[in-house]
Amino acid sequence: MTSTVSRLAIVRLVALAASSVALLAFTLAATATPRTTSATWTADERALLRSLSLSALEKLPADPSNKYADDSAAMLLGSRLFFDTRLSGNGKVSCATCHAPDKGFQDGLPLGKGVGTAGRRTMPIAGTAHSPWQFWDGRADSHWAQALGPLESPAEHGGDRTQYAHVMRAHYKDAYEAVFGALPDLRGLPERAGPVPDTTRSRAWARIVPVRQDEISRVYANIGKAIAAYERKIVFTPARFDRFVEAELAGRQHTVTDAFSDDERAGLRLFIGKANCSTCHNGSLLTDNHFHNTGVPQSTDGAANDSGRTTGVRAVMASEFNCVGKHSDAKRDDCSELRFAVSEGSELVRAFKTPSLRNAVTRPPFMHAGQFASISDVLAHYNRAPTAPAGKTEMKRLRLSDSELRQLEANLNTLVSPVGFPGATASRGATAAP
Ligand code: HEC
Ligand code: HEC
Repeated sequence: MTSTVSRLAIVRLVALAASSVALLAFTLAATATPRTTSATWTADERALLRSLSLSALEKLPADPSNKYADDSAAMLLGSRLFFDTRLSGNGKVSCATCHAPDKGFQDGLPLGKGVGTAGRRTMPIAGTAHSPWQFWDGRADSHWAQALGPLESPAEHGGDRTQYAHVMRAHYKDAYEAVFGALPDLRGLPERAGPVPDTTRSRAWARIVPVRQDEISRVYANIGKAIAAYERKIVFTPARFDRFVEAELAGRQHTVTDAFSDDERAGLRLFIGKANCSTCHNGSLLTDNHFHNTGVPQSTDGAANDSGRTTGVRAVMASEFNCVGKHSDAKRDDCSELRFAVSEGSELVRAFKTPSLRNAVTRPPFMHAGQFASISDVLAHYNRAPTAPAGKTEMKRLRLSDSELRQLEANLNTLVSPVGFPGATASRGATAAP
C-alpha cells in the first residue's frame, strides 16, 4: 500500500519535473534502501543532531561578575558551604537539602521544602553555569547572585546576612581570608540582622551604619561567589543519546552501548521534526536558556498567579547583586545580557525558563511547580496545547498519535547519565541509565 503510494508520487514527480534526473535517482535510491540504515538524515538534520550532542557543548563561559569563579580555593570553600546547615535560620537547611547530589541535585518534590515551602519546584544545577539567567523566571543573572536568594528567603534557608558573616568568622575565617582577604570587624553587630521580611531583623539591620552594612553585604556576596565556583563544576556526563549521535554521524555500526531501538530513533526524528521540541530544547544541554509560555496550568499549591518572567526581569534589574551592581567584579560592558534584556512585553507573561532535558525523566514531577506527575502527562499537554491561564501559549496543537507520543518519551529516556561534580565521579540518582 505505502509503496504503491510512493511509486505513484514518484511518477507524478517525474511528470512534473522531468529535468530533475538527480532528484529522481535520489528518490529511487531512497525507496530501494532498507529503512534500517543510518544514512537517512538530511544535511540539516545531521547538523542539528551534532548540535544536540554533549561533545558540541561550548567552553564554559567566563563570569566576569565573579573574579573567583575559576579559583580552586574558592571552589573548595564553596563545596563546604553548599552542604553547611549552619547557613540557615534553624540550623537544619543547606543548599543540598533541596539540591541533593544523590538525586541529580534535585529533591523530587513538587515544591522545594526548606525552613518553609517554596512557591516553585527545585531546579537541578548541572550545566546551569552556561545559562545567563538563573531561576524559573531568571531573576538572577549569575550563580553567585542566585545563591544569595535562598539564603535570605524565609521559605528556604531563612537566615540573614549578619548571621552568615558571624558563621564565616567562627568557622571559615582562614579559608575565607585566603581567597577574599580580611573579614571585617564584626564586634558590636547584632547576631541576627538583614534586609529580610522579619521585622525584628530588618529593623536591627536598619540601625547598622551604611559603611558596616556594606562590609557585611560584601561578605554575603563572597559567600555566593565561593558557592558559584563550586556549582560551575557540576556537569552532565555523556548519555547513550550522545554515543548514538556520534556513531550515527560517523556512519559507524552501532554497538549495545550506543544503539537506539526503532521507537527511540523515531522519537528523535519527531523531537527534531514534526513535534518541534528542538525549537526550544536545543543545543547540547537541550535548552535555549530562554523564557517561554507553554500554557502550563497555574499550580494550586505553588506561588499564586505566578507571572514568570514578567516579575523575574524586574527583579533582576533592581537587584543589588546584579552584574552592574557594586558587588559585581564586571565592567559595565561585560553586562550586555542584563543591559539589553527584554524587560517588557506580553510574551513575558507566565514565561518560564526552558529546562534542560538531560536527566529530565529522572526528576518527576515536572514543570515549574510540579504540575505534571509523569512524562506522558507533559507530552499529552504539549499535544493538546491548551489556552494559557494568563498570557498566550507559544505551543500549537501537535496531533501526535499515541504511538508517536510513546516514541518521543522513549527518546527522552536516552538522555539519562550520571552527574559529575567535585569529590565524586557520579551521582547515584542518575545511574538508572537505560
Ligand atoms: C528549600 C529548597 C531549596 C534550597 C534550600 C535551595 N534551593 Fe536552589 N532552588 C530551589 C527552588 C524552588 C528553585 C527555583 C526557584 C524559583 O525559580 O523561584 C531553585 C533554583 C536554583 C538554581 C537555579 C537553576 C536554574 O536552572 O536556573 C540554582 C543554581 C540553585 N537553586 C542553587 C542553590 C544554592 C546554591 C542553594 C544554597 C545557597 C540553594 N539553591 C538552596 C530550591 C532550593
Ligand atoms: C516554546 C518552547 C518549547 C517547546 C516547543 C517545547 N518545550 Fe518543553 N519546556 C519548555 C519550557 C519553558 C518548559 C518549562 C515550563 C514550565 O515549567 O512552566 C518546558 C518543560 C519541559 C519538560 C519538563 C522538564 C522539567 O524538568 O520539568 C519536558 C519533559 C519537556 N519540556 C519536553 C518537551 C518536548 C518532548 C517537546 C516537544 C514535544 C517540548 N518540550 C517542546 C519550552 C518548550
